[in-house]
Amino acid sequence: MPVTVVVGSQWGDEGKAKIIDLLASDHDLVVRYQGGHNAGHTIVAGGEKYALQLVPSGVLYSHVTPVIANGVVVDPVTLLDEIDRLTARGVDCSRLRVSSQAHLILPWHFAHDRLAEGRRGDNKIGTTLKGIGPAYADKARRAGIRVGDMLDRARFREQLSALGDAENDLIVHLGGEPLDVAAIVEQYAGAIADRVTPYIANTVALLHDALADGSRILLEGAQATFLDIDHGTYPYVTSSSPTAGGACIGTGIGPRDLSRIVGITKAYTTRVGSGPFPTELTDALGDALVDIGREFGTVTGRRRRTGWLDLPMLRHAVRLNSLTEIALTKLDVLDTFERVRVCTEYRVQGRRTGEYPDRLDLLAAVEPVYVDLPGWQTSLEGIRRIEDLPVRARAMVDLVEQEVGIPVRYVGVGADRDAVVQRS
Ligand code: IMP
Repeated sequence: MPVTVVVGSQWGDEGKAKIIDLLASDHDLVVRYQGGHNAGHTIVAGGEKYALQLVPSGVLYSHVTPVIANGVVVDPVTLLDEIDRLTARGVDCSRLRVSSQAHLILPWHFAHDRLAEGRRGDNKIGTTLKGIGPAYADKARRAGIRVGDMLDRARFREQLSALGDAENDLIVHLGGEPLDVAAIVEQYAGAIADRVTPYIANTVALLHDALADGSRILLEGAQATFLDIDHGTYPYVTSSSPTAGGACIGTGIGPRDLSRIVGITKAYTTRVGSGPFPTELTDALGDALVDIGREFGTVTGRRRRTGWLDLPMLRHAVRLNSLTEIALTKLDVLDTFERVRVCTEYRVQGRRTGEYPDRLDLLAAVEPVYVDLPGWQTSLEGIRRIEDLPVRARAMVDLVEQEVGIPVRYVGVGADRDAVVQRS
């Protein structure tokens, strides 16, 4: 079966784009299934760096059809800007297809994201302020406007005007500045709709036709398992379902069609924004991970929180996503460390457990139990075969496999596109 899913197994920023880029060469369609431009996917190709937020990474391959599927929330301004920037650099975006069923992020969603974060004060989630939560909230309360609504321009105008006026009342009530709804209607139902229209498609039909033709499909997750609205560290999560189940809902491809489900796991852990983080390092080692791993957000520029690899989390991610394999990324970031720690269990009220807790207060209270590995203290740069990894680095890969019970199929050993150890 030809459908591969790529899922982040931690709190995002695991280096998904690089593995997606690698896998895209063997796939015909690359599909985003959830999230929006809160994602930041960086690819280094031919010495050039591409930072993508919404357009699927596969766009860089001329044989790939990039698809933004129904589960995504689309800011059309970012979409067009990204298309323009890619086109200016010689990347052909004409194959891009955007689902008519995907919901639009509109100016009031940005306003609501800012207002809600402001009102939360010390309890703020630390969202990317891209309007993601409010857009999904409108979808869930059946008040959203979808990409396909742009096709009936008169109705689209009415929808924008009615919703815009109602949203403005709310914005003012919450202490925000009213938006110029008339200008928004002109812009969105005018130039924006004109330019987005050629990309709009029935992507469910397109994907099923592709399946019937035997095409190979890659479903590209954004964010990650522990930012999932159901299974993540709620409320410090995003508003979509990055887990593999979300890939089905967000594309219309049923679960029996999924074959490979690749969990992207950084060799240490990072998180942006608030919420519990059992293996967090707040000392010089944490700073070293930030510096060496360049752990700053692609979208917001925020410094990421850093810590050791957490295997109770990873085992939970294996179960939640039915992962078939792991890509262990950024192993080279640990090259200079004298000692590398891996959390294999938690201690909860004096008791050891490998189980990931179901409540935030329990997760905030766990103490990690570590296995200490001697550092390899040599550069992994240039290594391309698993047999060539230093014994001590190999020990880390083996530990992960033993502890989580599925193979580590890829190991990231550097920033370049080809800096990956692949195992057959
Ligand atoms: P939102 O998705 O903007 O609503 O943000 C909700 C939470 O998800 C915040 O903690 C963000 O930092 C986090 N988040 C959203 N997108 C990403 C991502 O692509 N990588 C890492 N964290 C993210």
